[in-house]
Amino acid sequence: QQFSQVLEKASMGSELTKEDIVTLLQALPGEEEEQLFQLADKVRRENHGDAVHLRGIIEFSNYCRNDCHYCGLRRSNKDLKRYRIPMEEIIEAARYAAALGYGTIVLQAGEDPYYSGEQLADMIRRVKEVGDFAVTVCVGERSREDYELMRKAGADRYLLKHETADPELFAQMRPGTSFEERIKRLNWLRELGFQVGSGNMIGLPGQTVETLAEDILLLKELDVEMAGIGPFIPHHQTPLKDCGPGDLKLTLKALAVARLVLPLAHLPATTAVGTLHPEGRKLALSCGANVIMPNLSPATYRQMYQIYPEKAGSKEDADESHERITTLVKEMGRQISTGRGDSPKEHFKN
Ligand code: 5AD
Ligand code: SF4
Repeated sequence: QQFSQVLEKASMGSELTKEDIVTLLQALPGEEEEQLFQLADKVRRENHGDAVHLRGIIEFSNYCRNDCHYCGLRRSNKDLKRYRIPMEEIIEAARYAAALGYGTIVLQAGEDPYYSGEQLADMIRRVKEVGDFAVTVCVGERSREDYELMRKAGADRYLLKHETADPELFAQMRPGTSFEERIKRLNWLRELGFQVGSGNMIGLPGQTVETLAEDILLLKELDVEMAGIGPFIPHHQTPLKDCGPGDLKLTLKALAVARLVLPLAHLPATTAVGTLHPEGRKLALSCGANVIMPNLSPATYRQMYQIYPEKAGSKEDADESHERITTLVKEMGRQISTGRGDSPKEHFKN
């Protein structure tokens, strides 16, 4: 199959098959890659304009009951000091976000059973009292009742990455969990009225370009409002310590194709791509991304939220991260968005 024919098809907004997506993901360095990135950039501009949405993340707990092979927060990592940020400090971080003009707060943590659904709901309520934020929650797999409590407390969005669309790889990488349970929850979140985010990693061992095409088709099938696509980065205290990191170009190509397939979705320039390469986030913003998620966690906790090592910004404070990111956006001739940055889908307009 000819690359140029598929790109032509994509530029007319036609639906892409798995085979088409594989062809695009195999764009050759040079002209083909350039054309793919340029089309993704154009589709981003047409659907979202030049504004970049900032989502301030508060990583409120690094405890996790899971043992994912790729992640530094896995429960078997006994060398990691664990923390839970006290509620007052979470509120303080939210106030800071309000002062910086953020439209969204992301409350993120490992899968920490310490928190009941009621407690999470309470946290959401208290954060929403601080300012006119949208709240995104990212705390993994919980019961349907817990998700409902969070939604009723005012949570607007929920992030639950599918990580990989290959069920066998999923089960291998995430012992004790299943792809099926993950998808079930993504459907619950949809039914409960959340703006739903998912996404996957690029470069897990055993992943193929066909799997990546499945990842993108799954995001399409779920019709996600947000999709986080970032490279895998090995962490020395995990079973995958000797694996190589995900490829930068392949990550950018996957992001670009996701933009073509999901024109209305919010796509972050992930922290992982910024960690993989010093220009990573800038490159991502040039091939489809329209969101950045700066870290608002107090510096004392950041070094302890080591999903992977040398996480971009892990040595900074919230004001430094904010400064660096706003400068980058302005240098690119783009603007920082002022609103909440909800999904542009009719249904979610505020
Ligand atoms: N490299 C890159 N991303 C990772 N994540 C977890 N471990 C890694 C890693 N080693 C991502 C997963 C998960 C989120 C918490 O971080 O996608 O959803
Ligand atoms: Fe826990 Fe998420 Fe890390 Fe898995 S990826 S160990 S669920 S924090």
